[in-house]
Amino acid sequence: MYAERVLSGMRPTGALHLGHYHGVLANWVKLQHQYPCLFFVADWHALTTQYDDPRLIHQNSMEMVVDWLAAGVDPSQATIFIQSRVPEHAELHLLLSMMTPLGWLERVPTYKDQQEKLSSKDLSTYGFLGYPLLMSADILIYRADKVPVGEDQLPHVEFTRELVRRFNHMYGREPGFEEKAREAVKKLGSKRARLYDDLRTRFQQKGDKEAVEQAHALLDEIQHLSVADRERLFGYLEGTGKMILAEPGALLTEASRMPGLDGQKMSKSYNNTITLREAEDSVAKKVRSMPTDPARMRRTDPGDPLKCPVWQLHLVYSDDTCRAWVQEGCKSAGIGCIDCKQPVIEGILKEQAPMRERARYYQEDPDLVKRIINDGCEKARDLARETMRDVREAMGLDYS
Ligand code: TRP
Ligand code: SF4
Repeated sequence: MYAERVLSGMRPTGALHLGHYHGVLANWVKLQHQYPCLFFVADWHALTTQYDDPRLIHQNSMEMVVDWLAAGVDPSQATIFIQSRVPEHAELHLLLSMMTPLGWLERVPTYKDQQEKLSSKDLSTYGFLGYPLLMSADILIYRADKVPVGEDQLPHVEFTRELVRRFNHMYGREPGFEEKAREAVKKLGSKRARLYDDLRTRFQQKGDKEAVEQAHALLDEIQHLSVADRERLFGYLEGTGKMILAEPGALLTEASRMPGLDGQKMSKSYNNTITLREAEDSVAKKVRSMPTDPARMRRTDPGDPLKCPVWQLHLVYSDDTCRAWVQEGCKSAGIGCIDCKQPVIEGILKEQAPMRERARYYQEDPDLVKRIINDGCEKARDLARETMRDVREAMGLDYS
């Protein structure tokens, strides 16, 4: 049986933190037991915004792979590789760029958002505009069925799906498909033909799903069509033909509820993180200096855990007994904040212990990490080459 393939990538941004672990990595570790998985370092994606200072990308990439391994991504189960080491991504990106309408890229919501958010950088570049297309190439080159991403990346997966339809429609048809489909449209009669064309345009240019449904209903009503014409009209409508590239589905990763040291979501930009492999004494120090309920000025003042970021961490790390102890002790001033923080420190250290252990194992043997990456790149490249053969052939670029 064909096993669905999972693919996901991450930009190399520097040391990963516990928010990444609870959000993304724990999910990857789970998925690797369920599907063949490919996980890659999106180093070219880092360049789309960091082109002015690429010096750290290499080091960040290697560190990130060690973080993945530390978190429990298992190279005997999942394929770990680096995007730029599989240059076929770039070839597919180029070929797709030929048939990608500019408007589709300009309309991707992250385009304007990110430009505004990162306004200190000049992101009016060709590469930045094409970044969702690069992501499409990453996905399509492995014919991935499932793409675990956070909510912010969903529009990119949807973009990829639309692109696949367009691609398969353009390059995956029977010879003369377009003419045959146009003939079939005429057979609908002028009024229905106009409606069909309208709906088709609405779907192909704007991705309007309702338009597809209406068109299906329209075609279902018509009795006098041959089976071949019907199929052509369905295919022409959605742009499907022979499947050269496969439509991926998004696997929405629940947004990490991991709170940071200040009660906001843990994020590098809020400077409130604990890294995956943060030194033990640094973990303790960071937690001990966390703010608490401001009402607890003195040890004898009662407080309210709901107003305290430490409580958020108890929700992640403590069991019911401990939480009851916090609730009672905080509200009655029976415990001090330092007491209250101790089980959180222990919970974090306990979670990190196996990660630290694995990281040490890999760090003692840097060649091992390189070998893991080399093997992964080779495996990925074999898959990518296969897809590229089909793509080149479909586009008439097969010179063998
Ligand atoms: N764009 C993703 C991010 O910024 C990273 C990424 C690049 C990716 N290519 C991908 C994720 C392909 C999933 C699939 O988080
Ligand atoms: Fe926060 Fe705990 Fe102090 Fe209450 S006792 S304010 S929950 S740290």
